[in-house]
Amino acid sequence: MAVVETRSLTKVFKEGELGAVNSVNLETREGEFLVFLGPSGSGKTTLLRMIAGLETPTSGEILIGGRVVNELSPRDRRIAMVFQSYALYPHLSVYKNIAFPLKAQKVKKDLHKQKVEWAASLLGIGALLDRKPRELSGGERQRVALARAIVREPAVFLLDEPLSNLDAKLRASAREELERFHRRVGTTTIYVTHDQVEAMAMGDRVLVLNKGVVHQLGTPTEVYDNPADTFVATFLGSPPMNLAELSDVIVGFRPEHFRPVSSVNGEAVAFRFKVENIEYLGSEWIVSGTPASGKLGGQKVFSRLNSAQDLSLGGTYDFAVPQRELKFFDRSTEKRVEPKVVSWQ
Ligand SMILES: Nc1ncnc2c1ncn2[C@@H]1O[C@H](COP(=O)(O)OP(=O)(O)OP(=O)(O)O)[C@@H](O)[C@H]1O
Ligand SMILES: [Mg+2]
Repeated sequence: MAVVETRSLTKVFKEGELGAVNSVNLETREGEFLVFLGPSGSGKTTLLRMIAGLETPTSGEILIGGRVVNELSPRDRRIAMVFQSYALYPHLSVYKNIAFPLKAQKVKKDLHKQKVEWAASLLGIGALLDRKPRELSGGERQRVALARAIVREPAVFLLDEPLSNLDAKLRASAREELERFHRRVGTTTIYVTHDQVEAMAMGDRVLVLNKGVVHQLGTPTEVYDNPADTFVATFLGSPPMNLAELSDVIVGFRPEHFRPVSSVNGEAVAFRFKVENIEYLGSEWIVSGTPASGKLGGQKVFSRLNSAQDLSLGGTYDFAVPQRELKFFDRSTEKRVEPKVVSWQ
């Protein structure tokens, strides 16, 4: 186990252009499962590849276990990385695939069996050791790739969208398996994804990136409930946080907090709300429309409800948001600010 730290870590691919990663400072905790979350092109892979030693930083430092590793080759960093497109050797058995890094690192042959069996049993593939990759399901191949990565007992585990090749159902079970696995080995893990659900479900903490810049590093609840800025507020949540411009301030509220007034307790801001669309999602309903008057008039707003059976398309209803659920952002910096008194009319 080791802590990973970056200091002002920057990567500029082409001189004069914006950096793919811009002055990133982060520090994992020992044994933590940290997720890098951001849209496509936000610099997640580049950041991870610099930590792994596969990409040279333009400036800044990387520390693993308290030691600057910028000059160390990937194999001397005691990290293991699994990529989105992990490749198994098709002509080698599962056993030999898992043992491959041991061979490359000249680990004594009589230790191979024990280590391979340890890694395979952690991932529940002990019975598959004699098979060839083509005789495995996608999920099983995934587990072989993970077993191959852990067999050297790395101090840090780096995973770049390792589940993205799996279908939704398999993905959910692979996710669970990976979490269970992490709890068992307790190795510091950095996991890259652009899927917010995956990030929220798996991360001890989530680092939200956009355009190579860190917008927030916090627990899933922190980034969801107290987003640092409007980017985080709208990147997380589906539908995203409702944002409305009121004079010099932007007010935000989550769709689940925008509800028929009869179900809202305590101090609240109420609107007449015209329902323009209703979507039934099985366990919940997403209702969208526009407040009928006031400063929010004409701005599209989403509501997430357990039931929308009392609402009809085109109807106008009294909706409200509890005062305590309102978030405020500065209009020019878009960063979150202290709650303010605003005029809604
Ligand atoms: N080798 C390279 N040469 C030039 N530009 C690159 C190179 N690799 C990445 N980039 C650019 O750097 C930026 C960040 O890319 P990166 O692959 O880190 O994003 P990402 O967050 O991993 O995206 P995705 O979710 O699509 O995998 C992008 O604008 C990309 O075009
Ligand atoms: Mg990537």
